[in-house]
Amino acid sequence: MSGYILAIDQGTTSTRAIIFRTGENGLPEPVQTAQEEFPQHFPASGLVEHNPEDLWETTIRTCRDAIAAAGISAADLAGIGITNQRETTVVWDKNTGLPVHNAIVWQDRRTADYCDSLRDAGLEDQITAKTGLLADPYFSATKLRWILENTEGARDKAEAGDLLFGTVDTFLIWRLTGGRSHVTDATNAARTMLYNIQDGCWDADLLKLFDIPASMLPEVLDCAADFGVTGPHVFDGTPVPILGVAGDQQAATVGQACFAPGMMKSTYGTGCFALMNTGDTPVLSENRLLTTIAYQLNGKPAYALEGSIFIAGAVVQWLRDGLQMIGDATEAQPLAESADPEAVLTFVPAFTGLGAPYWNAECRGAIFGLTRGSGPAEIAQAALQSVAFQTRDLVQAMQADWEGAGGETVLRVDGGMANSDWTMQALANQLQAPVDRPIVTETTALGVAWLAGMQAGICPGPEEFSQTWALDQRFEPQQDAAGADTDYARWQDAVNRLIT
Ligand code: G3P
Repeated sequence: MSGYILAIDQGTTSTRAIIFRTGENGLPEPVQTAQEEFPQHFPASGLVEHNPEDLWETTIRTCRDAIAAAGISAADLAGIGITNQRETTVVWDKNTGLPVHNAIVWQDRRTADYCDSLRDAGLEDQITAKTGLLADPYFSATKLRWILENTEGARDKAEAGDLLFGTVDTFLIWRLTGGRSHVTDATNAARTMLYNIQDGCWDADLLKLFDIPASMLPEVLDCAADFGVTGPHVFDGTPVPILGVAGDQQAATVGQACFAPGMMKSTYGTGCFALMNTGDTPVLSENRLLTTIAYQLNGKPAYALEGSIFIAGAVVQWLRDGLQMIGDATEAQPLAESADPEAVLTFVPAFTGLGAPYWNAECRGAIFGLTRGSGPAEIAQAALQSVAFQTRDLVQAMQADWEGAGGETVLRVDGGMANSDWTMQALANQLQAPVDRPIVTETTALGVAWLAGMQAGICPGPEEFSQTWALDQRFEPQQDAAGADTDYARWQDAVNRLIT
């Protein structure tokens, strides 16, 4: 069993296309990558948009570039897997194929007041019971409602059945298939706040609450399924089937082979997203975590508890672009290592408020404990340490929510920041538990390549795939529990000052 798979990873700041080749053991291995960044639009404070045409064009270009760089042709591809920034909302006219508004990005807070009104009306419990989510602007439903309310003519067209909604996977598939497939997978559907994760269907009560015509919604499929075939406009007439889809954090969970209840991964990209597999029962959180679908295979969902932090790698970007303390993200670690060991700065990177478990959209970032001796090194150290503290917040909340999380916790990490040994060591210290970094840290693309490869019949099932997961380095705690607790108390104190 061998062959090529094209994984598309449409993320928040860039689009990547990765060609994987499966070897005899069925493990997809990356052979070529093409990547393009695209513009971010910030129309006002708290608003974040993408031009859907940028998402489409960077997808097409990177796919073609990766295929050419790998020295293969589209005819060599057994299938395509798509993974994507989740929640980001696109609405387009099915007759013209044109979006009616820019995509409203997951980070966008424009519906914060409306979400407050949902909470004030006592509707959050009902929303959580059905979707596993909180009444927060993060999710698609209120963004979709906003587009229908605020774009001229959109409401009428939607009622007439002329407009379609999709998360980014759905929009790309619709374009790739020349408008023939309007579909998504269960993991992306689970982030819309319109999908009932208990019953596995779009929820009629929620559609009514948010005033969304059902005709706008895509069909929901498993993560490994037949999503459609590329039209002749994509690869010069060569049809390629789309066989795997998962939201990026769920794809990383799959790529980390977290198939057993209690297994957990944390991805350090722009933000940080920790998911713990809870098996076939959705565990509803009492500590403001999210309940979500980790993956769905053969019609059977596996659920997860998720903690979402909005700023992780973005804090390093801020050191680079905002403070201009470093020229490149890789310089953050050596700078942090040169900090005065006596310095105790606490950096809460609440640039856009705080996500789980605080969910405070209004608070903003702060650095506590500054002295005349504080300089770039101390700030860099506090910035990296904030990632460890925030992850501990999430893991503690998971342990409080679910007894299955209390055992031997091992955290599997990936994403750009997972390459910082210093940060991973700080994380192991805070968790007082091992942190495992795999050899392949491209787990998001790997996860969806495997899903597509399995559907194509060139990759093995979950059990065999999980045996191919290989450790690069394990970080064991090097600080005693009392010392870690003292540091963490400093963090909690700083957060409490900002949110109360
Ligand atoms: O929920 C948002 C998440 O899917 C975005 O991930 O990697 O594009 O920042 P990323």
